[in-house]
Amino acid sequence: MLKTLAKEIRQYKKATVLAPVFTGFEVLMEILIPFVTASIIDQGIEAGNMQKVYLYGGIMLIFAFISLICGVAAGRYAASASTGYACNLRDAMYARVQQYSFSNIDKYSTAGLVTRMTTDVTNLQNAYQMILRIASRAPLMLLCSMVMCFVINVRLSLIFLAALAVLGCALFFIMTRTLPVFQEVFSKYDDLNASVQENVSGIRVVKAFVREDYENKKFSKAAEQLCRLFIKAESLLALNNPIMMLVIYGCIICLSWFGAHFIVAGTLTTGNLTSLFSYVMSMMMSLMMLSMVFVMISMSAASARRIAQVLEEKPDLADPDQPVTEVEDGRIDFNHVSFSYKHGSGEAVLHNIDLHILPGETVGIIGGTGCGKSSLVNLVSRLYDVDEGSVCVGGRDVREYDMEALRNQVAVVLQKNVLFSGTILENLRWGKEDASKEECAEACRQACADEFIERFPEGYDTWIEQGGANVSGGQKQRLCIARALLKKPKVLILDDSTSAVDTATDGKIREAFAKKIPGTTKLIISQRISSVQDADRILVLEEGKVSGFDTHEKLLKTNSIYREIYEAQIKSGGDFDEKAG
Ligand SMILES: Nc1ncnc2c1ncn2[C@@H]1O[C@H](COP(=O)(O)OP(=O)(O)O)[C@@H](O)[C@H]1O
Ligand SMILES: [Mg+2]
Repeated sequence: MLKTLAKEIRQYKKATVLAPVFTGFEVLMEILIPFVTASIIDQGIEAGNMQKVYLYGGIMLIFAFISLICGVAAGRYAASASTGYACNLRDAMYARVQQYSFSNIDKYSTAGLVTRMTTDVTNLQNAYQMILRIASRAPLMLLCSMVMCFVINVRLSLIFLAALAVLGCALFFIMTRTLPVFQEVFSKYDDLNASVQENVSGIRVVKAFVREDYENKKFSKAAEQLCRLFIKAESLLALNNPIMMLVIYGCIICLSWFGAHFIVAGTLTTGNLTSLFSYVMSMMMSLMMLSMVFVMISMSAASARRIAQVLEEKPDLADPDQPVTEVEDGRIDFNHVSFSYKHGSGEAVLHNIDLHILPGETVGIIGGTGCGKSSLVNLVSRLYDVDEGSVCVGGRDVREYDMEALRNQVAVVLQKNVLFSGTILENLRWGKEDASKEECAEACRQACADEFIERFPEGYDTWIEQGGANVSGGQKQRLCIARALLKKPKVLILDDSTSAVDTATDGKIREAFAKKIPGTTKLIISQRISSVQDADRILVLEEGKVSGFDTHEKLLKTNSIYREIYEAQIKSGGDFDEKAG
């Protein structure tokens, strides 16, 4: 995990090294200053020598200035290293997610990925900056102060050792109690983010079902829980301060008491005592900072793990060594295919499917929800790999093709399709980047999308909101079909893509397909008999198995499931909009 994360430091290695180096110099200067102060007092003021006061005063100023410069430099390098690192991490994660196959994506929730790329990276960024600055500063400061104390007076330094032991025990006590709470905080954070993501993206549904109150309560509960945990953690951490103060003042009292005795006895100078006081302060401060670093690191450890997980995820599908880039024709063969989702229930979704579809054929696919229709067609463009058997397009196993080439020639209009924010034209050009306006218009005519586009005041330049929020379901579906048609594919798959289009328009679209793209193999999944009955052959799926694969007339005679669906839909007058259309 550390290796994966360290790899993303990249061009910020220099800054990463320089930040602690400058911090080191800064600490060194800060350590020397009390030493010089001691000299001013002992050799200058007490001896009444103004010359010495000026000399050491000057040296002190120079040290202070160097320390300042080093501090600024260290701060800058730490900031640029940590923000740059965060940027690299996000880039790398984004690039990795783009490589994910459908099966990889199934493993993470969208909310999870978003949280990982935002909150978790920010956590890690803060921790990284903290480590660069404070984790190098605090131990160094502690060590140097300790050494200086021992140089000045060994016996008095023993006081510090005792104080350190007390403080160390107290910190240990606090830490061991807060860390588990913080761990819990983070897992709750995930839940909260997931609920925000889900509800905000589904806000229309929430409103439609008048679930605002319920969702509000649910969210408040999650937020309150998080709040309580935070209070618990922070109130434990708050003990840090009083304990620290107790120890510091205890030290100062002991120092004053014993120090006075030593001065009277002549074994310690006043200046040295002053320096000891400064060192006490810096030691305790370092300890305090160190404890904060521990909290920070433990808080970000969870984030680091989650980021590494995304980066280390291996894309499930890989291109073959010598990929084929040309799909010969639209022939599709399923050879005894079995398939199951890796991140699903583990049960096979498709069982021993054996189908042979000719180029240019139109095949309707019908069956109950969850019977595996979408799963079946997703195998054709290799969105998933089969468990057993093989799927061939144009006579070759789909695993032999270059994935990009295959997907360009096998166009799928997914069941859950989306448009992106941008103009209609931009959205269409997802299908073909350099498509001319005329080509786009032609595709829209075939998909019967031209009629409503032309009614928009801005036509093809109409702005589509994120997710296609400002067009109706049927319009969105037609745009998605047009986008797929622009690819001029050899195989066109419509996964229930006209469910929101009225039957008359649906019929027109199919008619256009038959006339304009006769050579393209068409797989049309639908819930309506009317959408599939004029297909060359119809596949009836039942629980992942082929129940029948024949023409409408023959299926009516031989297939009881098909007959039932047919009769049910004919009796109810087909579709509710049948009469209207
Ligand atoms: N991404 C997925 N991960 C796990 N299981 C899935 C996934 N997609 C679908 N399934 C399961 O596979 C089965 C078939 O689903 P699907 O092919 O979408 O059915 P249909 O399109 O016929 O309604 C269902 O039981 C469904 O729960
Ligand atoms: Mg489906």
